[in-house]
This record gives sequence, structure tokens and C-alpha cells, in this order.
Amino acid sequence: MSDISITITDREGVSHEVQAPTDMNMNLMEVIRSYELAPEGTIGICGGMAMCASCQCYIESDHNLPEKGDEEEAMLSEAFFVRENSRLGCQINISPELDGLKVTLAPEE
Ligand code: FES
Repeated sequence: MSDISITITDREGVSHEVQAPTDMNMNLMEVIRSYELAPEGTIGICGGMAMCASCQCYIESDHNLPEKGDEEEAMLSEAFFVRENSRLGCQINISPELDGLKVTLAPEE
């Protein structure tokens, strides 16, 4: 058993501290969905294939995240509201190193 804690600010600006399991092969987008922090149909539209950007979030803490893959780079280069610290939530696997992560959901496109 190994849960980590993640602080997620939703699109209304409300912040939620949630627990996420590191042993269930989940990604950040799935965690956000499982806590219903974004309305159904506004996040995870492509099912986590790095093809929709509906799971875009801004990384607010100073964690060392795995590098972006080519698909993620390509999607973020076309998405709206992209910032320096944008990542696709579905490309970030929940791992013990991410304990204390803070993210903010990007606006809906
Ligand atoms: S869910 Fe579509 S890009 Fe992440």
C-alpha cells in the first residue's frame, strides 16, 4: 500500500488534496476523474492517448517529472492555454516520487 498526496486545483479555482495509489498503474488524468474534479466529458476525452489535451494541467510544484514524450510535445504545441509548466495529465504516471505534487487544471478548451 502506498498512497501519495496530490493537491489539485480545479477549474473553479478550488483546491483539493487527494490521495492517489502508486500501485494501480494510474495516471494523473484518471485520478482527477476518479475524484470527479472536472465534469464528465471535459477531461480524458481521448482516453489517455495524448490526443485531446483535455487533461492539460499546470505543474505548480517543483517535482522532477518524467520528460515529455513526442506525442505529448506534439499535442501541447497545438493546444490552447499552454504555459511553460503545462503537461498532459494522462501522460503522468502516479509514482512515489510525486508525493506532494501540486497541479492546476487548465481551462476547458
Ligand atoms: S486524455 Fe486526452 S490527452 Fe490526456
